[in-house]
Amino acid sequence: MYTRIQKIKSFPKNTTILYLVKSFDEINANFFSYEELTFIENESKNNKKTSFSFNRFTHWDYVEIVKEKKNNFHFLESLRVLADKYSAIFNEACMEEVGIHSLSFTIEESMAFAEGLVLANYQFNKYKTDKELKFNSLKNILFQDKSITEELLEELNIVTEATLIARTLVNEPVNFMNAPQLAKEIEMLAKDADAKVEIFGKSKIEALKMGGLLAVNKGSIDPPTFSIFEWNPENAVNKKPLIFVGKGVVYDTGGLNIKTGNFMNNMKCDMGGAAAVAGAVFAIAKAKLPVHVIGLVPATDNRLNNNAYVSGDVITMFNGMTVEVLNTDAEGRMILADALAYAQKYDPELVIDLATLTGAAAHAIGKYGIVAMGSKSEAFLKDLKLSGEKTGERLVEFPFWEEYEEQIKSEIADMTNLGGAEGGAITAGKFLEKFTNYPYIHLDIAGPALVEKRFNYRGVGGTGVGVRLLFDFAKKRSEKKK
Ligand code: BES
Ligand code: ZN
Ligand code: ZN
Repeated sequence: MYTRIQKIKSFPKNTTILYLVKSFDEINANFFSYEELTFIENESKNNKKTSFSFNRFTHWDYVEIVKEKKNNFHFLESLRVLADKYSAIFNEACMEEVGIHSLSFTIEESMAFAEGLVLANYQFNKYKTDKELKFNSLKNILFQDKSITEELLEELNIVTEATLIARTLVNEPVNFMNAPQLAKEIEMLAKDADAKVEIFGKSKIEALKMGGLLAVNKGSIDPPTFSIFEWNPENAVNKKPLIFVGKGVVYDTGGLNIKTGNFMNNMKCDMGGAAAVAGAVFAIAKAKLPVHVIGLVPATDNRLNNNAYVSGDVITMFNGMTVEVLNTDAEGRMILADALAYAQKYDPELVIDLATLTGAAAHAIGKYGIVAMGSKSEAFLKDLKLSGEKTGERLVEFPFWEEYEEQIKSEIADMTNLGGAEGGAITAGKFLEKFTNYPYIHLDIAGPALVEKRFNYRGVGGTGVGVRLLFDFAKKRSEKKK
């Protein structure tokens, strides 16, 4: 279904090949005629041209002379972005299979390009009925490089597939992807990956007294769900689990503090954190990484009816703490707080939550990165930042000073769910921190979870941000002992 990357001994005859080179000298008479080589040399030297294409009638040959960057992570990202350009070219020409010739590239560099190609090639066309529409044709990417192992390519296929699954979860509108459906999708992913899954329905959530999740769900006609997606292999290197918590607000109207103007547009993206967690645990399980991970996904929509929670309500949360609701649109922290408190029972090594939590985070850094905060987790955050640089899902650390807690003090309850005008992303994080007693990292993905216009290989709509980040982090963790 998605574009696959394959390794083969030699390219079949008449395969379209893209020669990725770092300098002109790498292209030689084995592949191109003397006239062609002279042409490439002249055009690249005199006119700084870097892209060349040759029509062989049965197929094409492309040459791209790429410029290296000082920072290797920036170079990897530039290769993914370059792949986006080639995805458009290949699809325009209706190609189904292309070979990549990148002998002077490191494995990481070749894989970054292939990754970009697969991710760029994604389309969400489930709801298109026009038979005349031409969909992307590219299905197979071939590598001849001996040094790339089948194992690494399979892992790349898994991670890209998981990223695209996360995109689809976000792109699906709430009239399909409600909370019960999201739980079903997680169940299917767990089955596919041979992992454990448990879904709590409304009665179990009531029995557990998850007050935050139930309060947000009061205005909904659909029941809430709470999904537990666990990968616990026998050879896990960690004694205590790594836990990922994803905000699963399948649609955010704001509730009675209803979103006005066009602020409600695209609020189907409010389960972007849940999608990332589902995708990441799926990929980790499918790749059989020796690391114990648990994904927790509290899910509901945030709507209004005559039973909806209101501003002024005091809610008793799962851990017994009380919250004075001052804005029904600050619902993400209500449902996440219950999941974070629930995570305590696993005595986790680290908990990372991903949430499209605040407009403030999106305003501060836009779609270009993830806003991060951490408590008792310095070394983990350092590793996670590195994974962010490597995968192009970069983190910006915000302060997490205790002074911000002033803003969420309540006169009548343990806290309010609303901060003041300053540092909205941070006061939201501080609220969540109150429900943790373990090393904790909070990731606000409100900016990058969904893009309205095409943003290179990230496509348009849901981006699947977080999947590759968490996978890389878990992989690094699985390579350490402890
Ligand atoms: N889901 C929104 C945050 C959001 C904004 C996500 C833009 C993606 C893009 C969240 O539930 C919300 O409404 N936050 C409020 C919080 C406020 C009421 C304290 C916000 O940021 O305005
Ligand atoms: Zn909201
Ligand atoms: Zn929300």
